[in-house]
Amino acid sequence: MRIDRNRLEAAFNELGKIGETPNGGLTRLALTDADRRARDRMVAWMKEAGLRVSVDRMGNIFGERSGTEALPPVMLGSHVDSVPTGGKYDGQLGVLCALEVIRSLNDGDIRTRHPVTLSIFTNEEGARFQPAMIASGVLAGKIALEDAYNATDRDGIRLVDELERIGYLGPEPCVPRPLRAYLELHIEQGPLLEEEERSVGVVEGIVGISWSRLTLRGIQDHAGPTPMRGRRDALVAAAEVVRAVRAIPGQVSAAMVATVGRLEVSPNIPNAIPGSVRMSVDLRDPNEEQLTRALALLDRAVKNAAASEGVSHELTHYWRVPPTPFHPEVVGAVERAAQALGARHRRILSGAGHDAQYMATICPAGMIFVPSRNGRSHCEEEFTAWEEIEPGANTLLLATLELAQQV
Ligand code: GLV
Ligand code: MN
Ligand code: MN
Repeated sequence: MRIDRNRLEAAFNELGKIGETPNGGLTRLALTDADRRARDRMVAWMKEAGLRVSVDRMGNIFGERSGTEALPPVMLGSHVDSVPTGGKYDGQLGVLCALEVIRSLNDGDIRTRHPVTLSIFTNEEGARFQPAMIASGVLAGKIALEDAYNATDRDGIRLVDELERIGYLGPEPCVPRPLRAYLELHIEQGPLLEEEERSVGVVEGIVGISWSRLTLRGIQDHAGPTPMRGRRDALVAAAEVVRAVRAIPGQVSAAMVATVGRLEVSPNIPNAIPGSVRMSVDLRDPNEEQLTRALALLDRAVKNAAASEGVSHELTHYWRVPPTPFHPEVVGAVERAAQALGARHRRILSGAGHDAQYMATICPAGMIFVPSRNGRSHCEEEFTAWEEIEPGANTLLLATLELAQQV
């Protein structure tokens, strides 16, 4: 029993046209028209595959293939939204491999005891609406529906209004549900599998993630007549914070990473001293205590930078997901599947967040990684060869058969 690589590739090429950038990447921000078109395409394919499709109040899409018994389903999912000028593999590959697994089960007339459900989660990236994984967060009961609805994008547009506008504000409650397991195939987005020439990553868990928002307020003034003395430049303070954030991992742990990815300068013109800056801080570490230590260092760095420039600051640590080990049974099923296929595999920890992280709080969860060329992701250069995807997709198929119990 194997997946059909040509069919998978054809679906990938077709879906990848929606939101494609001139350089062959993808810009398909959550709940935009491009996201709607990708969702519509997926829903049509899911219905063609005989799945019972439903949409919940967060716009998560589910397609269920019946089992032979009334048991909780094995859920296979990922997302179809992307970051701006991102790649075609992040998220999209996972939902299409899940679809291909279901198509292959149909072709083989395979019955499973547990139903198998394909899931597509809303706004996984957190690029348009923060935080990331917001819809699996609501499903898992970790984020309040109201808070998610009121998340706004850069233009102040609310998530709930966009859900409604694109026709994906569904009727199903977005609450924890009984699941046999949750399994997600994804690109690694890092260099390890490629470096070791392994095609399958048996994911053991995901690092802890913390997101903070910082606003620095100085004094906006004319860039010409205002002497250098006494300036209160919000951007100068921000620059100090950026350098300090870069230095945090060196003070905490070898595994920690820290990133300022977003900076909004106001008024952002050549001839005014910046009056305010808003910025993001992303901190990640496999260890919860180290994350807490890093946040204390961040607090101190912000205070110091603000004091030395005489600006005020407002720092909010608004999102945190603890380090998440995956369930031994699911990790084992993935490992056995990779072994049965004779695929070169290794155990691996994810440095990226995934919906699997929230799903792991309500059911046994796990993930399968396939290699990323040059370890690159969240960029247009993202790429994985089909020879590498095929063993990963077959691992997903065999692990699903084990967890759903083929009859
Ligand atoms: C999701 O892409 C993340 O930020 O890890
Ligand atoms: Mn992803
Ligand atoms: Mn991503």
